[in-house]
Amino acid sequence: MLEQTVQIVSNERDTDSYFRIVLRAPEIAPLIQPGQFAHVRILPLKEALLRRPFSIYQVDGDTFSILYKTVGKGTEALSKMHAGGELGVIAPLGHGFTVPKAGGETPLLVAGGYGMAAMFLLAQRSPQKGIVFVGGRRRVDILCEKEFAAIGWEVRVATEDGSHGEKGLVTHPLIAELKHGADGKKIYACGPTPMLKAVGKLAGDFDVPAELSMDEHMCCGVGTCLTCVIKVKNDDGWEYQRTCTEGPVFDSRKIVWETAG
Ligand SMILES: Cc1cc2nc3c(=O)[nH]c(=O)nc-3n(C[C@H](O)[C@H](O)[C@H](O)COP(=O)(O)OP(=O)(O)OC[C@H]3O[C@@H](n4cnc5c(N)ncnc54)[C@H](O)[C@@H]3O)c2cc1C
Ligand code: FES
Repeated sequence: MLEQTVQIVSNERDTDSYFRIVLRAPEIAPLIQPGQFAHVRILPLKEALLRRPFSIYQVDGDTFSILYKTVGKGTEALSKMHAGGELGVIAPLGHGFTVPKAGGETPLLVAGGYGMAAMFLLAQRSPQKGIVFVGGRRRVDILCEKEFAAIGWEVRVATEDGSHGEKGLVTHPLIAELKHGADGKKIYACGPTPMLKAVGKLAGDFDVPAELSMDEHMCCGVGTCLTCVIKVKNDDGWEYQRTCTEGPVFDSRKIVWETAG
């Protein structure tokens, strides 16, 4: 994990709702593992002290990129920054996904919202190809479909309004796949908490291992403030674990769902 000031290579609108920012970070880029995140200080923001966490989307040579949605002050200010501008970054952070092994379990990636970006590096680094299930409200919410297909993954899309792919929740095509045969499969997921809860339940019902990225609100991002904790089962019952350091990726069987989200 390094704390550095890095330069923006480009920062452009990627889809209707998302921007893609590319950062030059020669020392950070080679350290990044799938599922890890960067904690970003947006220097032009008045309250710049509070960093914002973003999953790492792609790594390319000495750069890495992030796909982000403008939802508030920080991301709005970020979207107005240009190539040549600087950001304060602590990265790579967190405990990411286990990269599938060649000839091992077939990976089923399940993503909603920016989760599709968070899982792209996993798909890219996995020698074992599988299926990506991507879901969103509307067609414009579906990210990275072409990128997953271009690296040889089968992509199954579900939108709630039926404007692209199957109509309904992303869990519908996942259920169909698990009913078809759950043996030898492993789920990896990143997305909104209700989606993760549903995926965690399906993993339990079908007895399939699952790694879920539990992206809670974060403050320090490095394990000291405890704003990001979730309850995780242990031999004595449960304990709090920090999603920024022990996570964000957890074994779904260990999560105490009754209190999550
Ligand atoms: C590990 C992790 C990885 C993330 N990766 C990405 C990513 O790749 N792309 C992306 O677009 N976003 C990602 N997020 C969410 C991102 O951090 C928030 O959208 C961002 O911090 C909002 O900052 P803001 O100043 O624009 O919004 P604020 O003004 O702080 O808040 C605006 C709205 O966004 C909500 N919000 C703030 N933080 C979060 C959060 N952590 N999760 C959900 N909602 C939040 C607030 O509740 C509020 O409704 C990630 C979050 C975590 C914890
Ligand atoms: S965000 Fe501070 S401990 Fe996790």
